[in-house]
Amino acid sequence: MRIARTRLEVGSARRTLPEPLGLVLTMGALHEGHDSLLRRAAAECESIAATIFVNPTQFGRGEDFGHYPRDEAADLSRLEALGVDLVFAPSTQEVYPAGFATTVDVGPLGERLEGAARPGHFRGVATVVTILFDLLGPGRAFFGQKDGQQTIVIRRLVRDLGLPVEVVVCPTIREPDGLAISSRNRFLSAEERAAAPVLSRALARVREAYERGEQNGDRLRELMRTTVAEEDLAALDYASVADARSLDELDSVGGAAAADGALVSLAVRLPSARLIDCLYLESG
Ligand code: PAF
Repeated sequence: MRIARTRLEVGSARRTLPEPLGLVLTMGALHEGHDSLLRRAAAECESIAATIFVNPTQFGRGEDFGHYPRDEAADLSRLEALGVDLVFAPSTQEVYPAGFATTVDVGPLGERLEGAARPGHFRGVATVVTILFDLLGPGRAFFGQKDGQQTIVIRRLVRDLGLPVEVVVCPTIREPDGLAISSRNRFLSAEERAAAPVLSRALARVREAYERGEQNGDRLRELMRTTVAEEDLAALDYASVADARSLDELDSVGGAAAADGALVSLAVRLPSARLIDCLYLESG
């Protein structure tokens, strides 16, 4: 496994790798969710690369950039064990050299939901993803469905800029009690950890209601609100049932308004971490 720290090193290492290259972008603190993306990449591609970069531009003031978990040695051994060919683990200066001024902005898609709660977040994500795609030239890039809006933003960015990469969205990996695996779960106290499955419980209730025939957006959003209200430690940031392409809130999950299906998502604050989760409902 080669480890590149600079743009120059990653460029020369990349040229030796067979096509297609499968890429998994990470901020480190690797877990079973990342493992599943890398295994899928290995199964579908001739070579695989991963990045480890805690991207400062996607964190807002007062967010957890300074405390984001970092353990590069553990991450590198995990990547080596998974058979990764190339790791790009640059410094902040390498990605954003002095005077860096260009940003990539996907417009309203990046301003809703997570973008409303975390202004500028998706500009930071879209910018770094564009830089890393350009440096690594993947044929396919693999992302987890848990970050539902992020995958929608990245698909739009790839389409709008005509980038020659296929975005592959892979299923969310969950703990046995339903909690979506996330690097931020390690911030949770034992009490918070016990409360955290409230997100997947809320989504499960939405799915059950939908399968019983409930299509009304307000009633499905209300179901998530009342479920989260059952947990004293949890405070709801948002509960959304939105068109999976435009992220417009839906009056009804069925019909033409939701031609691409619905993204059902929620964000919940626990005292030590803010967690997100989502699921897709097909239209019709
Ligand atoms: O999902 C993440 O870990 C990050 O948002 C990403 C895609 C690596 C960009 O920094």
